[in-house]
Amino acid sequence: MEKITINTPGSRSVILVGEQWDSVTGWLPKDGVVIITDHTVRELYGDKFPDFPVFSFWPGEGSKRLAVIEHLANQLLEAGVDRNGFLLAIGGGVVCDMAGFLASIYMRGIRCGYISTTLLAQVDASTGGKNGVNLGATKNMIGTIRQPEFVICDPAMLESLSEEDYLSGLAELIKTAIIGDFELFEQIETGFGEIMARNSGLLCDLIAKSVRFKGSVVSADEMETGLRRILNFGHTYGHAIELQKKLKHGFAVAAGMELATAFSLERKYIDHRESERIIGLLKRFKIIDEHDLTDDQLEKIVVHDKKKTGRDINFVFTHGIGKAEVEKIPVIEVLDFYKRFRDKKL
Ligand SMILES: NC(=O)c1ccc[n+]([C@@H]2O[C@H](COP(=O)([O-])OP(=O)(O)OC[C@H]3O[C@@H](n4cnc5c(N)ncnc54)[C@H](O)[C@@H]3O)[C@@H](O)[C@H]2O)c1
Repeated sequence: MEKITINTPGSRSVILVGEQWDSVTGWLPKDGVVIITDHTVRELYGDKFPDFPVFSFWPGEGSKRLAVIEHLANQLLEAGVDRNGFLLAIGGGVVCDMAGFLASIYMRGIRCGYISTTLLAQVDASTGGKNGVNLGATKNMIGTIRQPEFVICDPAMLESLSEEDYLSGLAELIKTAIIGDFELFEQIETGFGEIMARNSGLLCDLIAKSVRFKGSVVSADEMETGLRRILNFGHTYGHAIELQKKLKHGFAVAAGMELATAFSLERKYIDHRESERIIGLLKRFKIIDEHDLTDDQLEKIVVHDKKKTGRDINFVFTHGIGKAEVEKIPVIEVLDFYKRFRDKKL
């Protein structure tokens, strides 16, 4: 088991990679705990949940809405949860985003911790304290930054994950490698077979590397005023593709990373060999889906992107495997590149 501590100005978050999830009771207060999960996770693991009230909602991105948060808040109130309450999220990125958000606003904030049950949540979503919900067609528009007290990442829970959700998580793992860890990238390349076989020893190592990298970035820039922006590699196009094409988050980010890599090549920040290596790895795992957004669809989303300020947007380019840089560029250049890529005019 690996214990990774993330210290930020107001808090401390402990991520336990390789810890068995049923050890969670050791991290919980004796009473006042409420479990937030989705119906699928409840169905699969509910009989082994610790003995506390459980509130669940429909799985998937469609539940990341203020209306569902309001419904859950009412359930907490009716259950008598007060300021000493503790929310335990058991689920993937959606559950962690929702429970973290709810914990940060309910009665102006109560304590929370996560058992992270998808690969995507273990390598990325449950670390760093970002949480929130979508506003119509705009991703994560309403949210807060607040660190959970602990996150348990038990790779044994990944055995029940569908192939699609597993691959979706791999996309965020590959993202971490591209932006910050060349050795991790090579390890993913050479470990292809074992990764596909969900070898839990290797997964523990890969998850821990990803969490350690993200943790170091978050400790340095919790509020995303600078360095933390690199974590958005692939997300500018990815978020637009995710909501318009209704793809799983990781698949949309993979498509966004292909675009951001091709854009980096066009600007000569990387050479052909590096570009082929990055896109080759994404293709080997078969995580790039087709997307052909219309100009309208793309514009609607990109102009509402949180990374935009005025006419410019903070776009993340790769400058070689393991290195990323954020550059403020006109939104129009982001839109124009997509059109050139889509219409094969590169
Ligand atoms: N807060 C952040 O920093 C951050 C970072 C990246 C992504 N995200 C968000 O994370 C979300 C995607 O997360 P996700 O891919 O985990 O999606 P998810 O939470 O919807 O889970 C995917 C599916 O897997 C099921 N599931 C969960 N655990 C399972 C298990 N152990 N076995 C079988 N099925 C299981 C769920 O019920 C769901 O149907 C997106 O909304 C994205 O915006 C947040």
